[in-house]
Parts: sequence; structure tokens; C-alpha cells
Amino acid sequence: MAPYSEAGLQHEQPFCISGALNPTDMTQRTIPVELKLSNTNPLKSRTGCLVLPVANQKKLTGTTALADKESGGYLRKILKQNDLAESPGATLVLHNVPELDAQRVLLVSAGDSKKVSPQAFDRMTTATAVALSTPGIRDCVSCLNDLEVDDKDLTWQSRSLAQALVSNTYKFDLHKSVKASKRTKFDGKATIFVSQRSLNKSVEAGIVQGTAIANGMSLARDLGNTAANVCTPTYLGKEAKRLEKTFPAIKTRLLNESQMEKLGMGALLSVSAGSVEEAKLICMEYKGAASSKKPVVLVGKGVTFDTGGISIKPSAGMDEMKFDMCGAASVFGVMQSIAEMKLKMNVIGVVAAAENMPGSKATKPGDIVTSMSGKTIEVLNTDAEGRLVLCDALTYISKYKPDVVIDIATLTGAVIVALGNHTTGLMSNDDSLAEDLYTAGVEAQDKCWRLPLWDEYEKQLSSNFADLANIGGRSAGTITAGCFLASFAKEYKWAHLDIAGVAWKQGGAKGSTGRPVPLLVQYLLNRS
Ligand code: BES
Ligand code: MN
Ligand code: ZN
Repeated sequence: MAPYSEAGLQHEQPFCISGALNPTDMTQRTIPVELKLSNTNPLKSRTGCLVLPVANQKKLTGTTALADKESGGYLRKILKQNDLAESPGATLVLHNVPELDAQRVLLVSAGDSKKVSPQAFDRMTTATAVALSTPGIRDCVSCLNDLEVDDKDLTWQSRSLAQALVSNTYKFDLHKSVKASKRTKFDGKATIFVSQRSLNKSVEAGIVQGTAIANGMSLARDLGNTAANVCTPTYLGKEAKRLEKTFPAIKTRLLNESQMEKLGMGALLSVSAGSVEEAKLICMEYKGAASSKKPVVLVGKGVTFDTGGISIKPSAGMDEMKFDMCGAASVFGVMQSIAEMKLKMNVIGVVAAAENMPGSKATKPGDIVTSMSGKTIEVLNTDAEGRLVLCDALTYISKYKPDVVIDIATLTGAVIVALGNHTTGLMSNDDSLAEDLYTAGVEAQDKCWRLPLWDEYEKQLSSNFADLANIGGRSAGTITAGCFLASFAKEYKWAHLDIAGVAWKQGGAKGSTGRPVPLLVQYLLNRS
């Protein structure tokens, strides 16, 4: 069987091997967890699994204490046997607990400290999603909101559970000829117990946010994971059109190469010059507020495959350069999230999409190109292509009169040396924007850390032949890349997120992470 026959061939290109998938047929994104809330006594529920938090094994509280009493002290007896570890997120499933109507009880440890930290609570909700993932469990009632989490409200807590449950169902089998049919993840009905009706609104908001963030991450992951012979700039353009069709608040505009040429985007076009795939500049305009409200503009690096061009990369691990469009993927994910949440603000998502190939028309080291800003650039290394596609996008978007601009890019290997695979590199020309992004990262457990953009570094980009060079030597590679972009972002408040270390995982769990969708959505939620 042809591998892509299930998804259907595109009608306009029946014999094309690359791009054989129709984006509208990407069905693996459908996430079936159904989240609800309820005010009725959870102990009276005939649920498949009652989820109870355990904050202090010696002194149970809330519904957990009531369940213990109802069962004649059964829970405490089990806990005395030391069967539940005290680390946050440790779980224990009990069957046939005396006098309870639930089929199972899932005990989830909150740790042994007095206060439950947000990190501990996130671990609990993630562990809950995993523990529920046995084929027998089809529904659950969660009492995790009985706990109070340090500094956080019910909306945040409910969001944590919703996000964990929906994210847990993620799978990617677009390219598998045989799709998995067995249920391996919890995909049933999850009910969040809310003790007072007056709190329903806060919990509902959390469910909406958590689901929207998880859905945005799933979209970002799908696009990142999709093979580069399928996920081309043209494919990303179609994906943007699909979002426009799905969400009335999104309007999509696409620029092709001849339109970009007329605008003078010589830097962006120098990257796609060696490829048969046509570059695209994709603009998704989300209107959730009056037109007079200045928008937040997100700009994503969408290099759908980065061979390095004529400055070609070594072949080991080069397959991972299909992930070089993960900045763009996160922009798509954020647009999906905010459209689902109907955020009352204006956001423009721009994707600079190109394939970096060493064709006969490819840009060569030493070539000099003219950017849309008028600045000339000496391309000393064709593998420093991300900044070339981004700089023209950064010039183009000034037409939106942005309030702030954030670009997101898998820009440098050097950021992995600096911050590892845990933390996004943050650079900015505005202290308060940098602080807001840092805070949003901590809140969303999707952290970033700022690096400086001082003048000393910018000097490394000087060129003997053009206004600037596209590389700045061996040292401080992440910062010199940031300085390059900064010189095209002088007219507005701007931040740059280098996600090369966090956007995907390597090895056995190879795949896109969906970062930094949670960070960006949190930033936008905090503004709205
Ligand atoms: N897409 C890469 C950055 C990258 C490399 C991300 C490895 C993740 C893992 C980018 O286009 C690139 O090649 N950057 C060069 C810049 C250098 C030529 C100044 C790099 O980091 O080596
Ligand atoms: Mn490169
Ligand atoms: Zn790249």
C-alpha cells in the first residue's frame, strides 16, 4: 500500500511524491478527552477512577479524608504500609475500596512539604494522565483541586490537569501505513470536582485554557514531526489557509517569491535560491480586538529543511534539520490556541518559510545580498540562514505598527552549549518585554533565560565588503545571531527566542516538543 494513500493525494498534484499529503487530512490531531466539571459528591460517583490527592500521609484532608472515613480507614491503612512514595507525582491505584462506588481509587502524592508548589502540582497532573492510561479506565473524577497550590488559583490548577490530560493523548502516525488502533492513553471522560458552584467559572476557564494550549502544542508538534519532503513552505502556506478556514477571526495572506522580490526581500530569497521549493511569507492575522489596538507580532523561522546550503552540514543527524521550522510551528500553535480561547487582542503570526539547499543557483559564501531594509549582507556562511529569512520578515512586519514583536527560531547550535536542552535563549531590546517573557516562562513551566546584546558583540558582525556579515566568528554565536536580528528590529519593542535546544528531543524519543507554545500563550494571556 502506498504510504500516504489514507490521507489522500492532492488533486492538483496527483503524481507529486513530495507534498503528497493534504494538510486538511491531518487527522491525528483530533484529541478525544472530554473534560467537564461537576458539583455533586464525588464519593457517590460510579466512576471508573476516583483521583484523590495525598498531601500529608499522616493527616488526610478534603475528599481524600472523607473517602477514608467512608471506607472505614482503608486508605490510611494502605498508606501506613508505605505503598505510596512521598515524591510529588507518585501514584497508587487501589481496586474495590470498601464502601466506595468508584471502581478504582488513584492516590496521587503531593510530596511531603507543607505547601504544594506549582511544579509539584504539574507533576501530579502529568502523573495522573499516565496512571489513567490503562485500557480499562474510561472515565474519572478528579479531586486534585482540593489542594491549594502556592500562588496559584483554581483556573491555573484546572488548566494544569486539562493540559496534562490532552497532551498525554498526543500521537503522531501520519507517516505510518498502519495506524495504531489500540487505546494506549486515557481518552475518556474526565470530570473535575468543584466543591462550590460559585467556583465553576474559574474551573471552566482553566479547562478552556489547558485544552487550547495542548491543542496548540499538538499542532506545533505535528508540523515539526512531519517529514520535510511533505512539510514544505507550500505545505505550511496551506496549513495557514486551513487555520483561516477553521477560525473566522484569522485572515491568512501568502506572499510568493515574485511578490517578495518586488518588495526587495533579497536576504530571504537568497536562502531558497538553491531549492526547487518556492519560499513563502505567511501572514496569519488574528483579530480579537478593535483595529485601533496595536498587535503583538510573532515571527517564526520556517526553514523546512536546513542542509546548510553550500556551507553544507555533516551528514550525521542531518535528518533533525527537518525541525528547523519549529519556530514557525510554534507560531501556528499559538494562533490555534488563541483562536480557540477567543482572546480579546490582536495577534499577527508571520512565518518566513524556505528550504536551504545547495542547488546550482544556491547562494555561495562571499555572495552579497540586499535585504528589504536596504542593508547589504555578506553571506560568509550559508548555514547561518535563519537570520537571513528572519531579517526580511522583521522589516516587512513594521507595516503592522506592532506593539511588540517576538521572533522564535531554531537559530544556533551555540544556544545548546550555553543553556542545554532545558531553556530557551531570550534576547531583547526592551527590559520590560524581556521580564514579561521570563515570568511567563516560569509560570508556564516553559522557561527562557536572557542573554545580553551589548555593542561589543555587534562589532563581530562587521564586513569588509557589505554593511554587515551574516556570521560573527566562533565566540558567542547565539548572541551575535541575536545582534544580527536586533539591527533589523530597531523600530519597535522586540524579543528573540532561540529555541534550538528545546524544540525537539533526540534519540529514542525523537520528536517535536511543542515548545515554546506554553510560554507564548502565557505571555499573551498575561497581557489580555
Ligand atoms: N538551524 C541551525 C541551528 C541549529 C543547529 C539548531 C543544530 C539545532 C541544532 C542554524 O541554521 C545553523 O546552522 N546555525 C549555525 C550558525 C553558524 C553557521 C554561525 C550553527 O549554529 O552552527
Ligand atoms: Mn543553518
Ligand atoms: Zn537553520
